[in-house]
Amino acid sequence: MAIEVKGLSYIYSRGLPYEKEALTSVSIKIFKGEAVGIVGHTGSGKSTLIQHFNGLILPQVGTVKVFGEEIKNDKRFLKELRRKVGLVFQFPESQLFAETVYDDIAFGPRNLKLSEEEVKERVMWAIDEVGLTSEYLDRSPFSLSGGEKRRVAIAGVLSMKPEILVLDEPTAGLDPQGREEILSVVKRLKSEKDVTVIFVSHSMEDILSLVDRIFVLKEGRVVVEGKIEEVFKNKEIVELFDLSVPDIFLLGEELKEKGFKIDEPFRDPLIAKKEIVKNI
Ligand SMILES: Nc1ncnc2c1ncn2[C@@H]1O[C@H](COP(=O)(O)OP(=O)(O)OP(=O)(O)O)[C@@H](O)[C@H]1O
Ligand SMILES: [Mg+2]
Repeated sequence: MAIEVKGLSYIYSRGLPYEKEALTSVSIKIFKGEAVGIVGHTGSGKSTLIQHFNGLILPQVGTVKVFGEEIKNDKRFLKELRRKVGLVFQFPESQLFAETVYDDIAFGPRNLKLSEEEVKERVMWAIDEVGLTSEYLDRSPFSLSGGEKRRVAIAGVLSMKPEILVLDEPTAGLDPQGREEILSVVKRLKSEKDVTVIFVSHSMEDILSLVDRIFVLKEGRVVVEGKIEEVFKNKEIVELFDLSVPDIFLLGEELKEKGFKIDEPFRDPLIAKKEIVKNI
């Protein structure tokens, strides 16, 4: 088990007149090696929840276990935890700070006190992993496009070789090309590596194309969880929680009802094309 959350509640500004309950009795399990999506309207508690996974926020009520170990407020424990759980923040490009892309990606490994040779190895690996060439390494992060900046930020997290990778709205605000770039990075990571991926998004299209299970948050509670196609097929749930099921998925279901032989749910246009071509 990668992550086990039990009875987690969280209140911001506790005791103050404007206190805000952001999470209420959340219990979820995420298994090693799986890719899960966390969705929900703005303010539903997604970022609050995932910031618990690497100890940025400590549990007030309830527990969070990572690989079976309960998160506790201990400096050494938290340091080790942050190595295992890599968190790419909402708008991570604002965290780029070094003069070169190289130094930015090297920051984490240098903090681990690795030799400069090992640091270099990690940087080369990470930049390749996000689909950028080593020519980028000497450039200033500020000279990059939005999608490139975000890929560098992801490389900075990957360079720590996390076992769990948490991405908070990694495609928000990017143009279609930037979005595709990020999605293909995550897809590759998911297929090649033994990494557990937790993907937070508003976009049901992104989620559908990437993950197998989803958790839907509403006002700080997990209101739906399950395999993505089961959830999207359930009309009652879709209506009740106002889930905007992607058209491409609905097309697949409709064709199936009309007698098409569809083997794979339509997660993206490529799958749709393959399945439709088989039938004509
Ligand atoms: N630092 C804070 N102080 C007080 N309230 C906060 C703080 N951070 C978040 N909140 C409140 O807690 C609730 C949950 O916020 P959170 O950022 O976890 O939601 P979210 O699902 O990530 O939203 P979004 O989709 O907009 O990123 C919201 O009502 C938010 O206003
Ligand atoms: Mg958020």
